Amino acid sequence: MMPDPLQLPVKASTVIRNIGQLVTIAQQPVTGASGPLQVIADAAIAVHEGVIVWIGHDSEHLFQQDSDTPADGITIVDAQGVVVTPGLVDSHTHLVFAGDRAEEFHLRRAGVSYGELLLQGRGILSTVNATRSADAETLAELAIARLNTMRHYGTTTVEVKTGYGLDKITEETCLRIINDLNAFEASPTYQHSRVRVVPTFLGAHVIPPEYRARREAYVDLVVEEMLPSFVGLARFCDVFCEREAFSLEECRRILTRAKELGYALKIHADQLSPSGGARLAAELSATSADHLDFASDADLEAMREAGVVATLLPGCSYTLRSPYPPARRFIDRGLHVALATDFNPGTSYCENMQMMLGLAMSSMGMSLEEALQAATINGARALALQDSIGSIEVGKRCELAFWSIRDYHEIGYHFGINLIQSVLVS
Ligand code: NIG
Ligand code: FE
Repeated sequence: MMPDPLQLPVKASTVIRNIGQLVTIAQQPVTGASGPLQVIADAAIAVHEGVIVWIGHDSEHLFQQDSDTPADGITIVDAQGVVVTPGLVDSHTHLVFAGDRAEEFHLRRAGVSYGELLLQGRGILSTVNATRSADAETLAELAIARLNTMRHYGTTTVEVKTGYGLDKITEETCLRIINDLNAFEASPTYQHSRVRVVPTFLGAHVIPPEYRARREAYVDLVVEEMLPSFVGLARFCDVFCEREAFSLEECRRILTRAKELGYALKIHADQLSPSGGARLAAELSATSADHLDFASDADLEAMREAGVVATLLPGCSYTLRSPYPPARRFIDRGLHVALATDFNPGTSYCENMQMMLGLAMSSMGMSLEEALQAATINGARALALQDSIGSIEVGKRCELAFWSIRDYHEIGYHFGINLIQSVLVS
């Protein structure tokens, strides 16, 4: 038998060489890696069938002789000395909608609050109107364009919620669009740079206008009709637990049924007031509770005990000009903190996870190391995908972000531009 010119210790279909700094964010100690993020200088990765099979130093002479003429069937990717991290995980977005709310953004600048606009039937309901009026093709085109932007900024996994249909037909249309994004992404065009999409049903976003006088009937519709028919179309069920949206009791009823049906749970919790959402997340063992601006210390303690991930969304604070969530409060209590864009037309019209990394470091008291973990492995935890993505480790999927920098300490420091060169999902 001919010797393998790469002399790899394992079978591989792709080898990524010449990585200047490999920021593994590994959860187990890695040979040759250092620091809290387990960084390996001058690294290489071998991949087989989309799974990482080997990580080490490029100069370990595992790749000898004719490394420029690899064995048949092995693709060599030359990283040209740049920084490589896990692909960014955006675990909270509202990607499927039509229209925009620029006018409201400027009204808020002039002093009208987000809650007031919601009570006036604007806010989320304006987007519900626009989404119901749009055809499925338009909604899909808009979603694909946004997903492409996310990829361009380094995101390789994105959670996408419904919540702008609020009737059975439109919610289902949106869920099908979200599921189709995965199929679209798997097409040959995106073979090596696709984005993984995780669908969430957020039928309990707000009470739709036609149910304003009989809100219980809408909760019945969600619980009795929508949830059972959307099993298999959505991985998560989310609710907006807030004075202007759904009460604690309504949320408990919806999420309890969702859990019985096999959905994993998420909650928009304590965003505008202390709504009890964080406590409910702990009670029902939700995967994550998101926002948490008004959660109490006791709520956080309950979340920690129940293993609920705290997802913080600085794009909302930036847009609504409200205080940034103080991440130290969560991290110092031992909670896993995830960062996400909350991409939506009202409170965070931003596809860019690098912006969230920057805000976390400039305004939320997070270190670079904490922010990077929050945007990768903890994002994966917020989607219950930590065993397959979120870090670069043997046995995990190969989902990588290539940064156009040579030292990862530039992340957050060099701001307002796109530091991502490309992503690779093999
Ligand atoms: O996460 N708070 C509820 N939902 C979104 C906002 C949606 C919207 O304003 O359109 C959020 O902030
Ligand atoms: Fe949200």
